[in-house]
Amino acid sequence: MSFSARILAWYQTNKRALPWRETTNPYIIWLSEIILQQTRVEQGLPYFLRFVENYPNVTKFADAEEAELLRLWQGLGYYSRARNMYKAAKLVVDQHDGEFPIDYSSLINLPGVGAYTAAAIASFSSNEAKAVLDGNVFRVLARYFGIAEPINSTAGKKLFSELAEELIDPLRAGEYNQAIMDFGALQCKPKNPDCSVCIFQTDCVALQQDLVSELPKKNKS
Ligand code: ADE
Repeated sequence: MSFSARILAWYQTNKRALPWRETTNPYIIWLSEIILQQTRVEQGLPYFLRFVENYPNVTKFADAEEAELLRLWQGLGYYSRARNMYKAAKLVVDQHDGEFPIDYSSLINLPGVGAYTAAAIASFSSNEAKAVLDGNVFRVLARYFGIAEPINSTAGKKLFSELAEELIDPLRAGEYNQAIMDFGALQCKPKNPDCSVCIFQTDCVALQQDLVSELPKKNKS
């Protein structure tokens, strides 16, 4: 079985039930991804639910007062996220007729949406085969393939990004992206992962070579 097929099989039995996974609505997915950019799932969840309830679509969001959005955002920090969301919502209304985009090349032009977020929204909403690369994915790939190249070096960024794009299942891009992130968050944890119960025990280069705690590598910035 391929790497992606095995991660997907693991996901079927281990996935976390999260409300933004029950939809392909790009606006709802965007809300969740921006909230989760610097916030843990448990902390972000009640905020996500409040935003969906108060602003069920992007037009309602764009019509809100900025002060009201910032008030709902209280406690999440990094207020530039909320300000960029407001700009992005207005842009979607003005330039996309209120239809939230689902393709990577449009999404990447929205304020506050970087490569990770554009890939997440595009793949979760329309299955566009763009691989997400976040801390979880870097860790899984670095360990499984035994890659010692720093994740933030020029060569490392290129290598990890090419590898991630090769591995993605084009028919199940969104599910695969969710799966590898959950695998990193729940099984291939940063500290003291329980490799004795891992599905990749016999293939993981880091485990074979006793490098699990060494990888991934990162240059000091
Ligand atoms: N963190 C960021 N995006 C996430 C997602 N879609 N599911 C779970 N955790 C996340």
